[in-house]
Amino acid sequence: MEKRRLGNSDLMVTTVGLGAWAIGGGEYAFGWGSQDDRNSIRTIHAALDGGINWVDTAPVYGLGRSETVVGEALKNRRSSVILSTKCGLVWDPETRKISNNLSKKSVTAECEASLKRLQTDMIDLYHIHWPVPDESIEEAWEAISRLIEKGSIRYAAVSNFSPSQMDRVSKIHEITSLQPPYSMIERGIEQEIIPYCRDHSIGLTVYSPMQAGLLTGKLTRERIEGLPDDDWRKKSSHMREPALSANLELAETLSSLAADYGKTAGQLAVAWALRDPAVTTAIVGARRPEQAQQNIGASGWKLDEDLAEKIDQALARREKQLK
Ligand SMILES: NC(=O)c1ccc[n+]([C@@H]2O[C@H](COP(=O)([O-])OP(=O)(O)OC[C@H]3O[C@@H](n4cnc5c(N)ncnc54)[C@H](OP(=O)(O)O)[C@@H]3O)[C@@H](O)[C@H]2O)c1
Repeated sequence: MEKRRLGNSDLMVTTVGLGAWAIGGGEYAFGWGSQDDRNSIRTIHAALDGGINWVDTAPVYGLGRSETVVGEALKNRRSSVILSTKCGLVWDPETRKISNNLSKKSVTAECEASLKRLQTDMIDLYHIHWPVPDESIEEAWEAISRLIEKGSIRYAAVSNFSPSQMDRVSKIHEITSLQPPYSMIERGIEQEIIPYCRDHSIGLTVYSPMQAGLLTGKLTRERIEGLPDDDWRKKSSHMREPALSANLELAETLSSLAADYGKTAGQLAVAWALRDPAVTTAIVGARRPEQAQQNIGASGWKLDEDLAEKIDQALARREKQLK
């Protein structure tokens, strides 16, 4: 599989990484409905067996469950995997209510808990998940740089940060990478964030390149209507009218364009997100082994000019429909 260097680090990551949010399952505010842990472990193994060399998780995914499952899956293969997790979203164990906390004490305790759940003594890439509260990002970053000195973390990263927030924390410690959203539907990083990261040698690990499954063409209107109440996608504005019809039409167009190359719509959506070399890697979620295996097929696919132009036309059509 194609690999790219992550920022200034010595991490060579495959251009498709495995996202472990959905394997956190349901029954909390940002859940994905029910999920079988044995199937999740098989999914992680399928991704690694297929060549993916890095896994992204977070404590908040399933309120500890995703990290626990990832730790279990990596038990005998930890050394061959680049492990990425986050801090800053904590929860009350009784009420399961999630809140933001970037205090030094909380970040240090979160890292300790993640190491236990992941069954490891070192996390390769550690993120501030959200820059909230904004006034605490320096304190959290200081805490992360202490954890690097201690040997609990290898590289420090941020997620959902603006350029000015990256300017602030980079005075304290180098940022290895930024994790922002990026897909054909959410293109907000193109104007400022991608050039900023390119200019500052910060790696980009973009998330939700298939817009939480919407761009695979497999998430039909019927499936969306039937999603369980504990699948957050039920509330996503991209999966409701007035946007839904335009998004489903886009997914259909992608399926037919990809078929000409013997590929799927999801693979095309991921390959498109990787077309700028400043984007180091795409984090692609999967909850079944076949999905992980299929998603690997996006890596190394360079879109030709004709295909890129047809995608531009489809995206322009979608924009027009949404006006
Ligand atoms: N830092 C942040 O704030 C942040 C935010 C969001 C995500 N992330 C990271 O990015 C990762 C990826 O994002 P994401 O999970 O939101 O979205 P995604 O990668 O765009 O979509 C993943 C979902 O699409 C469906 N899918 C996957 N492969 C498929 C295939 N081959 N065919 C058909 N359907 C397929 C699965 O759901 P179904 O089977 O249920 O349809 C899967 O859960 C997350 O797991 C997480 O690690 C980070």
